[in-house]
Amino acid sequence: MVSAIVPASDLHPLPFAPYRDVPTVELEERIRAIKGEWSDRLLILGHHYQQDEVIQFADLRGDSYKLSQLAAQSQTCRAIVFCGVHFMAETADILTRPEVDVILPDMAAGCSMADMADLDAVEAAWSDLGEYIDTDDLMPVTYINSTADLKGFCGRHGGIVCTSSNARAVLEWAFAQRRRVLFFPDQHLGRNTARTMGVSLSQMPVWDPREPLGGNSPDALRASRVLLWKGHCSVHQMFRPEHVAQFRQRFPGIQVLVHPECTMSVVDAADLVGSTEFILKTVAEAPAGSTWAVGTELHLVNRLAQEHPDKAIHFLSPMVCMCATMYRIDVPHLAWSLENLAQGTPVNIIKVPEDTANWARVALKRMLEVK
Ligand code: 13P
Ligand code: SF4
Repeated sequence: MVSAIVPASDLHPLPFAPYRDVPTVELEERIRAIKGEWSDRLLILGHHYQQDEVIQFADLRGDSYKLSQLAAQSQTCRAIVFCGVHFMAETADILTRPEVDVILPDMAAGCSMADMADLDAVEAAWSDLGEYIDTDDLMPVTYINSTADLKGFCGRHGGIVCTSSNARAVLEWAFAQRRRVLFFPDQHLGRNTARTMGVSLSQMPVWDPREPLGGNSPDALRASRVLLWKGHCSVHQMFRPEHVAQFRQRFPGIQVLVHPECTMSVVDAADLVGSTEFILKTVAEAPAGSTWAVGTELHLVNRLAQEHPDKAIHFLSPMVCMCATMYRIDVPHLAWSLENLAQGTPVNIIKVPEDTANWARVALKRMLEVK
């Protein structure tokens, strides 16, 4: 019997629910089959926090900076399936060729830190600040963990995006042009970075968007060099300086390596601080027999320990610090999004509106040019 060809317009997206009941090995085979068929028309990007069952399918892995570079450089693909969180997929959409569809396998994979600043609140802060300081001399810098419209705000106001791997270079760029910086949404990355550049804590007031004048006096705003938005990562704030002290006591000579989203007291107590890519590289290059306590997301640290059995690698916190939203990307969601793509009914396409994307691209390109 010859099967009838179904016109594309009559196809309906495959529902997700049945994928929950398919054995993982079968879904893994189906994912491999689509990767084989699509070859270089499909690019699966994976952030280092992804669980092993997902990251095994990533064509390329990286931290936020590397993944945005990879998206900007992609030449042959027609679709990028982003195994990461929403702001990363938005960034990929902004930086790729217009004909590329960027897909996030689960739309609920957000970032709680990115949700701590929104455009209305940042615009209100900018206008309030304008009553006391010259906003022409204030540089907006957004951490890449932010919505596209905040990147657009930075683009429109001469500002820039940064990641955990280039925050210092970006702040140097900002200070070469303007006297002050408004840094959002992560107060810790802003504080940890500016301190290494000699900015004192008294010059870094925190801006709480729920308080009048961000909770500051006009004098504190006038004395500021870096205004830190009151945002944080709920995963990284769980690491404490006591954890560092406990590891140092148990394992003399241990090296402590943390992500700059940790609080200042943890960063001060650590030996080394850097992005997820820096953390991976540092441990990979360390001598066999060395001992490490690592303060970042649990899946990354567990994988590091498995990949380097010749080194002792410990997770810095006694609590389970995992990124619940990164974890939403699993094999069923990956298989479901890929099979819909292959069937011609792509789901979960991330498309940033043109006007926002244009300004956000300006701020992202400034960042890519800085480093
Ligand atoms: P990296 O850019 O260092 O990978 O960090 C991303 C992130 O969300 C850390 O929480
Ligand atoms: Fe966001 Fe924190 Fe998860 Fe990173 S670890 S994606 S900052 S919630």
